[in-house]
Amino acid sequence: MNIALIGSGGREHALCQKIYESKLSKNIICLPGNAGTNKIAVNINIDIFNFKKVLRILRFYKIDLVIVGPEEPLVKGIVDFLTKNKIKVFGPNKYASKLEGSKAFMKNLCKINHIPTADYKICKNKKHVLNFLSKHSCPLVVKADGLAAGKGVTVCKTKKQIINISNEIFNGKFKSSNKIVLEEFLEGEEASYFIIVDKNTFKFFGTAQDHKRVGENDTGPNTGGMGAYSPASIINKEVENKIINKIIKPTLKALKNKNTFYRGFLYVGLMIKNNEPYLIEYNIRMGDPECQAILPRLKTDLLKIIVNTVNDNLKKTSINWKKKKSMTIVLCSKGYPGKYSSNKIIKNIYKLKLKKNEFIYHAGTKVLENNVFSNGGRVLNITSLGNNLLHVRKKIINLILKLNWKHGFFRRDIGWREINKNESYQRKIQR
Ligand code: AMP
Ligand code: GLY
Repeated sequence: MNIALIGSGGREHALCQKIYESKLSKNIICLPGNAGTNKIAVNINIDIFNFKKVLRILRFYKIDLVIVGPEEPLVKGIVDFLTKNKIKVFGPNKYASKLEGSKAFMKNLCKINHIPTADYKICKNKKHVLNFLSKHSCPLVVKADGLAAGKGVTVCKTKKQIINISNEIFNGKFKSSNKIVLEEFLEGEEASYFIIVDKNTFKFFGTAQDHKRVGENDTGPNTGGMGAYSPASIINKEVENKIINKIIKPTLKALKNKNTFYRGFLYVGLMIKNNEPYLIEYNIRMGDPECQAILPRLKTDLLKIIVNTVNDNLKKTSINWKKKKSMTIVLCSKGYPGKYSSNKIIKNIYKLKLKKNEFIYHAGTKVLENNVFSNGGRVLNITSLGNNLLHVRKKIINLILKLNWKHGFFRRDIGWREINKNESYQRKIQR
């Protein structure tokens, strides 16, 4: 099959690698891809939001299946457009994409279907905000309704901060949002649960925890994600059953009741407290960098799973996983998520010798005359697998040190929560 993959991040390089390894794939094109996908696919640098142009490229390359990595083209309706033009595509339609594209839509769906989530109010003006503030105390969370490239959510400690941020959003800070969701702050531990969904059924697609803050000990501003590990042990069988029965099933049923359906990856972002899961957010795609930690654990052919999903045959597909644990650390440009410079050469990248179970996924990179240059805030993702997360992390850090990229930085404490849990467990059983 000829495959087109849309997107240019580390998630897409990880997807591309798995598709490349599949016996079912023939040619792969990436729109637009990065320096990593360039080695295993043909990168085509076009505007992915110009759907007509995308369609022309897909026809020219005789593409049999399109796989969409990021949320924005999905929210803008690329699946509906391609389906109408008789191109097979993996990802949710425009209506189902509102689960991520509109926080107000997602929260209302939760309320109507009794899905556990933080109490909230959709506010269209200052009066609505003041009304919610008169009934709830801080901390509270302000969320821009629409997509905001990870910058739309602020946890606020004071009412003044809430009013300022709400005003900024009402005044057009994010083009995608003229309203906000104001909600209660949930305490607990965050974790993500992934599924793959077709018209008839859904299957487990891994668990992970990521680290969103830029600094060690989870401090500093939010980023797209500084690292992740999989699986997340906080999602035990009991929690998993609750996630499925209280959150996932009612959501998929709600879409069916609207005469539509979900097809694609679904990322369920959760807060877990005392073995009770609460939905924080839905993402209509794999997580980045969670995908780079999860996919190396997948034993089954990814393309076979995706083809079966697009044909609504997921029920018959068994999905198998390696028992090993995995971790991804993100190497960023210095200054990220604030100002940083791009176009810095990454000299040693092709000299690094990777052992079995070690992977480098490119994110913000590009190739110029056979050299790799940085091209974004999150530049490379280094993943490794093993039985012990502390050892896995050491292996990754050694690789990053060998790369010796002066313009980059990374967090050395990815997985601290899981590693501390394991260590205290080890101490307990040794006593
Ligand atoms: P979201 O874009 O909705 O995932 O929010 C980004 C991050 O903000 C989440 O990963 C959480 O760390 C935090 N967050 C969002 N909503 C809440 C909430 N109601 N309570 C606590 N933290 C939250
Ligand atoms: N790592 C968080 C996300 O993909 O949204």
